[in-house]
Parts: sequence; C-alpha cells; structure tokens
Amino acid sequence: MRGLDSRLSLCASFVRQGARLADVGTDHAYLPVWLCREGVCPQAVAADVNPEPLSRGQLTVDEAGLSEKITTRLSDGLSGIRGDEVDDIVIAGMGGELISKIIGGCAFAKDPEKRWILQPMTKSELLIEWLCENGFEILRQDCCVAADKCYTVILAAYTGETRTRSELYPYLGELCPRTNETHRRFVNAHIERLRKQSKGDARFAALADGLLEATGE
Ligand SMILES: C[S@@+](CC[C@H](N)C(=O)[O-])C[C@H]1O[C@@H](n2cnc3c(N)ncnc32)[C@H](O)[C@@H]1O
Repeated sequence: MRGLDSRLSLCASFVRQGARLADVGTDHAYLPVWLCREGVCPQAVAADVNPEPLSRGQLTVDEAGLSEKITTRLSDGLSGIRGDEVDDIVIAGMGGELISKIIGGCAFAKDPEKRWILQPMTKSELLIEWLCENGFEILRQDCCVAADKCYTVILAAYTGETRTRSELYPYLGELCPRTNETHRRFVNAHIERLRKQSKGDARFAALADGLLEATGE
C-alpha cells in the first residue's frame, strides 16, 4: 500500500493513540491499514455501504497482513457497528450533509467518549451548523492541501451543549485564517462561493464581507 496523502494524513493525525477505529466509507481502507500498521490503533472496522469498494479495502488489508486487526464490514453508515467496539470514528471523503446524516442515524452518537474525525468534501458549513445544533463541540480543526485542493478536517465530540454561535462560525469553525495560510485559503474558497451566490442576496454578501474581515485581508 502506498503512503497516505496529506488529506488522509491529517485525518490520521486526529486519531487518538490506542483508539479502536471505525472508518466509515473506507473504500481502499488505506486509513485503517496505515493506523494499525503504525501502531496507533490496535484494531479497526473498515466499513462501506457498497460491496465493490469494500472488496478493494479487503484486498489492501490482506496485502498488509492485517486481517486479524482489521475487519471489513458492509454497513450503511454506522448501522452495522456497535458502540462498544469503537472509540474514534472517521468519516472522510463524503459531502457534509451525508456525514451529518450518518452521525444523526448512529445509535451511540451521544456517547461523549467517542471522537468524530470528519472530512467533508463539500458543504462543510452545513456539517458544522448541524454539529452545533445537535450538541457537538468542535475540539480541533485544521486544513491541508492535496492535489492543489484545500480540505478541512474536524475533530468533534458530543457534549450535549448547544451554544449560540455567530453567523460566521459555520464557515470559520475553529480555523485561524489570520495566522495560518492554509486556513486562509480554505476560508477564501468560502468567500468566493458566497460572492457567486450573493448576486441579489444581501445576506450572502454580508457573510462574505464578514469572512474577509476575519482573514485580516
Ligand atoms: C470518495 S470515497 C472516500 C474514501 C475514503 N474515506 C477517503 O476519504 O479517501 C466515499 C466512500 O463512501 C462510501 N459511502 C457512501 N455512503 C456511505 C454510507 N452511507 N455508509 C458507508 N459508506 C458510504 C462509498 O461507497 C465510497 O466508498
């Protein structure tokens, strides 16, 4: 198996040492194989809703000789995974709305000991909004660039608290666009999208202006 790209590396860096992993939407199972091989995770469930990607994952697991540590499992979201077999859950490479739907449908989502490592490909603002409205706190957030595209990774946990956040929070989350160039690039992409949407809608224009101010540019 090849090494992880910077997007999956960033996801991996948010996983706790010793955590039992669930990788939801695993496809090639690169992430669980890397984390088990490096000794970060003692065991993992590599899950996917589709048989074809799951068989690709099984191949990676077999080639790495890790079938005793990693179980591949056909599962829609977390429906086929028990709360008592995982600590950290990665959901990467899907849209923000689908990620929130998967967490919302999980029976053990409200366990505060679980850590959620989330990497939305699109609509990260809707995912952050959903997390805030549903009692999750963002503990960390970072960005990376892979193949010249900027991605964000969110580490969240359930606290049960639903704090009122500013209108900009879904776009900014815990990023520091004033001091971190990659964070600024990610926020600038939001600004660009909002400017496109803003034609005839003053609310989007105001959000874009607010974000620009937050970047310090
Ligand atoms: C683009 S791949 C991402 C692979 C890997 N997680 C990554 O970030 O590189 C998305 C994967 O999610 C799977 N998927 C989509 N919806 C899912 C669901 N509801 N439950 C589990 N897996 C799902 C797809 O079959 C596909 O293999």
